[in-house]
Amino acid sequence: MSFYLPESVDCNGELFKVFITKEQIDARIELLGKKLDKDFEDKHPIFIGILNGAFIFLADLMRSVTIPCEVDFMKLSSYGDEKVSSGQVTELKEIDAKVKGRHVILVEDIVDTGLSMKYMVEKMKKHNPASVSVITLLHKKEATKHDVQVDYVGFEIPTKFVLGYGLDYAQEGRNLAQIYALHEEE
Ligand code: IMP
Repeated sequence: MSFYLPESVDCNGELFKVFITKEQIDARIELLGKKLDKDFEDKHPIFIGILNGAFIFLADLMRSVTIPCEVDFMKLSSYGDEKVSSGQVTELKEIDAKVKGRHVILVEDIVDTGLSMKYMVEKMKKHNPASVSVITLLHKKEATKHDVQVDYVGFEIPTKFVLGYGLDYAQEGRNLAQIYALHEEE
């Protein structure tokens, strides 16, 4: 399969430049898969992807693990069509899987303020799973103000608005195969 890998893109009238390449993403996911294989061996985990943003990361991550596992999805919204979080989490789709007694791995595209992940972890714990782990492709560590658990991170990034590989700006740009950052004039 070949991918469209431009150096820069225009999304909703704003310029974004390549920030994390497809090669870097692939290499990191391979390592994360190996780590999960080891940590969850014989645990038959259930991956819960947080829609919409995590769908591409989850698809690649799941194919990088070799242990038996399951998948389900939940849908949250906290950004609307803006570049900053609305500060409120809206639940748009509940999980279908029964997680009681199961090892749950919550999969996010990005942890920014930490609000969504804090909400998800607390919600999941109410279902009495055997364990809850969190994996995110990107972590804006300096922007995280909520006390949130993050067990596995693809890349720690500065507080920049990013796009691509599942992440959107006003719903566009999710189909880009690598990650782009908003270009800010010096
Ligand atoms: P948090 O609740 O503030 O941690 O935000 C998490 C959610 O906000 C993510 O799942 C994304 O959907 C969205 N988000 C945060 N930062 C970005 C970004 O830089 N680009 C696109 N979406 C983002």
